[in-house]
Amino acid sequence: GKVGVLLGGRSAEREISLLSGNGVLSALQAAGVDAHPFDPGLYSQDTVLSALAAQQFERVFIALHGRWGEDGTLQGALEQMGIPYTGSGVMASAMAMDKVYTKRIWMSHLQTNQTGSDHAPTLTTPRFMLAESLAQLSAAVREIGLPLAVKPAREGSSIGFSCVQQESELAAAWQTAAQHDRDVLVEEFVAGREFTVAILGTGEQARALPIVEIVAPEGNYDYQHKYFTDDTQYLCPAPLSAALTTHIQAMALAAFHALGCSGWARVDVLLREHDQQPYLLEINTSPGMTSHSLVPMAAQAAGLSYQALCLQILASARL
Ligand code: DAL
Ligand code: MG
Repeated sequence: GKVGVLLGGRSAEREISLLSGNGVLSALQAAGVDAHPFDPGLYSQDTVLSALAAQQFERVFIALHGRWGEDGTLQGALEQMGIPYTGSGVMASAMAMDKVYTKRIWMSHLQTNQTGSDHAPTLTTPRFMLAESLAQLSAAVREIGLPLAVKPAREGSSIGFSCVQQESELAAAWQTAAQHDRDVLVEEFVAGREFTVAILGTGEQARALPIVEIVAPEGNYDYQHKYFTDDTQYLCPAPLSAALTTHIQAMALAAFHALGCSGWARVDVLLREHDQQPYLLEINTSPGMTSHSLVPMAAQAAGLSYQALCLQILASARL
């Protein structure tokens, strides 16, 4: 049947989604799948769902990033239309899009483990506060201290992100984040190595792929370094001890399950320098699939080509 690759959209990550989606589209077509692009960003909000329905897709591969694509809203519409889709369902997509909710879920998982009999790894995440005003952001400095990471609660690709070293930078960081979201996440800045873990599969079948370490020039893995420069180094499998590798993979998998994710995702992790403690940063339920992206890199290291990866994700599409 006819497969739709949903790409573009109208979030701040539109440009990245076009790169991801066109990559997926070409790979599926080369594998003989009857795949066609659909860009919700080309339609007005009141016509987009009828335009999507008119395509009569049998199932869709969601390669949209950010709001109205990765955040559960489109997943809800697809549920209404009865079209199977890749990746997480409505609730997991919505929670994972919001870094504040994600962290609340992970922290409550930690509390369950302290009192329960469950042997799952604790889902440690940096200390944080939700700020809805510059005054609340300033209050967070007194609670958490400096440096701080300041980010929109619901954005991706480092859009709206700042690292605040001194109080004089707070107002600018507030502006940068708040123009993207009314909810701003203020987070303890954890100094250490940066990793990402791709998860593939659903339920008991879900597996962590080899870990990728990101070595950005001056530790600055921002929007430009993520997609448009070639000076970021990626090490996969990441040079970690076997014990740490297993621990971080188990943590990422537990983080995926804690939010009820399915199909695939990518979990971003920091390894704190001074005590080698891993910290969960966030989970992406529709991760990048560009030529610079990390899920394809991890898949490659596991012996899965880009095309095989796309086919496997598509095969997991469901309602
Ligand atoms: N938000 C970008 C696309 C990612 O996580 O890969
Ligand atoms: Mg993200």
